[in-house]
Amino acid sequence: MGYKVAVVGATGNVGREMMNVLTERRFPADEIFAIASRRSLGTEVSCGDQTLKCQDLEQFDFSKVDICLMSAGSAVSKEWSPKIGAKGAVVIDNSSYWRYDQDVPLIVPEVNADAISGFAKKNIIANPNCSTAQMVVALKPLHDAAKIKRVVVSTYQSVSGAGKDAMDELWAQTKAKYVPGQDVEPNKFPKQIAFNCIPHIDVFMEDGFTKEEWKMVAETKKIMDPKIKLTATCVRVPVFVGHSESVNIEFERPISADEAREILRDAPGVLVVDKREPGGYVTPVEAAGEYATYVSRIREDTTVENGLALWIVADNLLKGAALNAVQIAETLISRNLLKAAA
Ligand SMILES: NC(=O)c1ccc[n+]([C@@H]2O[C@H](COP(=O)([O-])OP(=O)(O)OC[C@H]3O[C@@H](n4cnc5c(N)ncnc54)[C@H](OP(=O)(O)O)[C@@H]3O)[C@@H](O)[C@H]2O)c1
Repeated sequence: MGYKVAVVGATGNVGREMMNVLTERRFPADEIFAIASRRSLGTEVSCGDQTLKCQDLEQFDFSKVDICLMSAGSAVSKEWSPKIGAKGAVVIDNSSYWRYDQDVPLIVPEVNADAISGFAKKNIIANPNCSTAQMVVALKPLHDAAKIKRVVVSTYQSVSGAGKDAMDELWAQTKAKYVPGQDVEPNKFPKQIAFNCIPHIDVFMEDGFTKEEWKMVAETKKIMDPKIKLTATCVRVPVFVGHSESVNIEFERPISADEAREILRDAPGVLVVDKREPGGYVTPVEAAGEYATYVSRIREDTTVENGLALWIVADNLLKGAALNAVQIAETLISRNLLKAAA
């Protein structure tokens, strides 16, 4: 017998990928419900070879589902995740709202699957920020081998990380730049995103860092090790899908580039593509649609003691969101933490 799964945010970038991933991985679902706002009532979304009609979040009876994959933004998660959890469904939440709550596990299955056991306090499990998820998949095996002291990361984040309207904005601006006199005003982004890059994601904080940068620090500490020091610069780039990261790491113990390459070749969820020749590395265009987190450009950074530099690329809608959420649900099942509804 299978599970009843609700996907909240089913018309969105992440929700649509959740439907694909559930189908592709043959998730043992008896029934999948597509849920969105009242605006989308009756809208058809595809889920494998089925077409599902969207239902209204406010009217849906969550007592009939076992798992709820939640992907409709922080405000919706704040209000609805506890309500849905209280009805007995396990909520796997994609927003940032619950990630830092000590009663809510923040999980990347390849990295800290054991932390999942604490979920029953609120019946909510949080999915990390897309940039954190792909980074910790690559950092964890290196941390186990040589203990990371400090990380300096710069991200190159695609517009799909900001939702479907952001993708439309990049497309509209790109087309407009080819037709003189047809400029499109920035709306979702603070400045032109086509043919540009913007060093600003989420709101500014008092110390000058952005909330996106703060999330990478707080989430890495919660998922991997509170002792790791991390500083981030998060940048939006005119790429539709796929986040890239340039990462400099300082370890406690020496680790060579060859050793790191070997460790990463064996690491779950990681694919190493690292030929030191033109094209011998992965770019976001190649990572889009793929489940793996790719690591390229592995090299020793001799400007610090025990330093390494890497390039990490993954599909932000998959490992950064939908795939990780489905992997969490699979972990619940494989550890017998979920009972199917009678
Ligand atoms: N994109 C990423 O890479 C990524 C990665 C990690 C986490 N996340 C998080 O995942 C969430 C969704 O992101 P997204 O990129 O999929 O956004 P999106 O493309 O803008 O889609 C938003 C979805 O939420 C639904 N929604 C909005 N307000 C709602 C309401 N009041 N009631 C019910 N449904 C509502 C929308 O339904 P309608 O169509 O009916 O408006 C739509 O299905 C966000 O919390 C985001 O931070 C995204």
